[in-house]
Amino acid sequence: MSTDDRLLQLRQQLQKASYAYYVMDAPVMEDSVYDQLYRELQKLEAENPDLITPDSPTQRVGEQPSSQFRSVAHNIPLYSLENAFNVQELQQWQERWQRIAPTIEKAEYVCELKIDGSAIALTYENGLLVRGVTRGDGTTGEEISQNIKTIRSIPLKLNLDNPPPTVEVRGEAFLPLEEFNRINHEREAQGESLFANPRNAAAGTLRQLDSKIVHQRRLQFFAYTLHLPGQEDQIQSQWQALEYLKKAGFMVNPHCQLCEGLDGVVEYFEDWEGARQRLPYMTDGVVVKINQYPLQRELGFTQKFPRWAIALKYPAEETPTVVKAIEVNVGRTGAVTPLAVMEPVQLAGTTVQRATLHNQDRIQELDIRVGDTVIIRKAGEIIPEVVRIMAELRPENTTPYIFPTHCPACGSPLVRPLEEAVIRCVNSSCSAILQGSLIHWASRNALDIQGLGEKVVVMLLENRLVNSVADLYRLQVEQLLELERFAQKSAEKLIAAIEVSKSQPWSRILFGLGIRHVGQVNAKLLSQQFPTVEKLSQASIPDLEGVYGIGPEIAEAVVNWFRNPGNQQLIQDLRDLGLVLADQGIDQAKTDSGKLKGKTFVLTGTLPNLSRLEAQELIEQSGGKVTSSVSTKTDYVLLGDKPGSKAAKAESLGIKLLSEAEFLQLLEP
Ligand code: IVH
Repeated sequence: MSTDDRLLQLRQQLQKASYAYYVMDAPVMEDSVYDQLYRELQKLEAENPDLITPDSPTQRVGEQPSSQFRSVAHNIPLYSLENAFNVQELQQWQERWQRIAPTIEKAEYVCELKIDGSAIALTYENGLLVRGVTRGDGTTGEEISQNIKTIRSIPLKLNLDNPPPTVEVRGEAFLPLEEFNRINHEREAQGESLFANPRNAAAGTLRQLDSKIVHQRRLQFFAYTLHLPGQEDQIQSQWQALEYLKKAGFMVNPHCQLCEGLDGVVEYFEDWEGARQRLPYMTDGVVVKINQYPLQRELGFTQKFPRWAIALKYPAEETPTVVKAIEVNVGRTGAVTPLAVMEPVQLAGTTVQRATLHNQDRIQELDIRVGDTVIIRKAGEIIPEVVRIMAELRPENTTPYIFPTHCPACGSPLVRPLEEAVIRCVNSSCSAILQGSLIHWASRNALDIQGLGEKVVVMLLENRLVNSVADLYRLQVEQLLELERFAQKSAEKLIAAIEVSKSQPWSRILFGLGIRHVGQVNAKLLSQQFPTVEKLSQASIPDLEGVYGIGPEIAEAVVNWFRNPGNQQLIQDLRDLGLVLADQGIDQAKTDSGKLKGKTFVLTGTLPNLSRLEAQELIEQSGGKVTSSVSTKTDYVLLGDKPGSKAAKAESLGIKLLSEAEFLQLLEP
């Protein structure tokens, strides 16, 4: 697509999105998606300044108000903030302002959480609230005084002995998350459209014509700045302004912090990245403001932003990018997974260029094509997924994607078992399946063979040095030396690592075998009940289903796996090569006299250092046990980040909650 066409497309989309957002109160695009498209437009325009048009969204100061309320011109415009999307951009901002004010030795910064709400300006005359106005386009807003007066955290009268003749207080009106959810539930029940986010709900509420509805929705307000016409000298810094606002009776966000230098700012930003999830309202970044007013005045404003403040945004979890190719990957189970290869883009703090498309049905549902602009999202895990495509941005002459009929690795026909979404390669000697199996076997949570990653595995296969997992244990240093990547030392190191892996516990070996549905947790459960490979291979479906946590699907997968002659051979080979496919016993004496003997634990949330399995191992080695649900029989709940409902239940039952550090202390001798 030509640059001209892309520019046109981007402008049209951004215009549509801001109309939907500001005028219709019905957003059609996530904020982060808007930001990213806006930046693409900015970048293209910077590279081609002659292509900038006056109607481009980049040339606009604010957004237009709609017309149901009386328009009020702001005495002093309500500026918006420039965004920084990472620490480097924050540093560049500092360098920029320092170039303008080189005489300043030390800047103090005030860090404030960027509350996701709607900016409003309140005018007080002789201490009394006379007017409340929305931000509007920054120069003109809408008078919403009636609605403002329903917000309890906005004083109708200032708590000052000698109130100034006039003062304008600015801040953010917002809906606490609980209230936001309550409103959306109610709207859902009444078949009304839902608010996309708390900011939108706050803006929509402020511009409600019926103040009774506004009253029912408990808006709140954090004040963050003030203007005292004629008395500018009274206040000399942002910090003093916040103190003044508190004294006057406003709610000021309690987490504002005065920092010296950028290191303090970065620390604040990082501290709140996780902690903000626990706040009862939504924040999407940190607003960094230069504290000293004289310095603020010296720096002034650009067309759109103050030079003395910036918003440092938390990484987006959703972002748009363009699809360059669609490929399929054959995994160790033979499952063929399609994936989109995209223009590299920043997502939740990392650069990504591949996203899973799950399966053929999903591709059809999305109708994703090479050239499409897509929205991708971090799906909790490491691999991002494609959420949707932006059909409006599709270039001309694209063609629908046709799923391959044959395995790209071995060429055999692909099959789709009845009633399954997954398409598979069923050739048991397919090189892609073998490659996946080897990588899985060597991976950290399986046999944990240091130095045996994807690259080395590919090389071993290409040089036909291995043809099965068992072959790894037959490798010789001399064979590795023939490969480009290896010298004497590195070859010896890998062979030693493979040797060491022979003593991994049975549960890890079982996980490493890659039986369908047998992940780490099931491998652990099965290895406890069936402490040798013989016992497990002889188990019937009912035997397996008898194990707590093992369902019919898993039981069947295990039985089928052991029926396969190729797998029987593999077990025999591994045993002959010196692997112990049996529980070598946790030291029973230690378990019996362990520190946690008789104690029952429940795990919830993500721990900072230990994996779930590691925590479980530690508990069991000390004689304790782990169960899945909290009851009166639970002694401790080990609490990680983003805990589930188990934490609340434990609290209501008065069960002791432990952090990872407290837990580790319990284990100390
Ligand atoms: S200061 C000239 N402080 O963010 C200074 N804004 O992206 C302009 N916001 O329109 C605003 N929390 O709606 C400021 N502590 C805070 C804020 C904040 C949220 C919003 C505000 C503004 C938008 C700019």
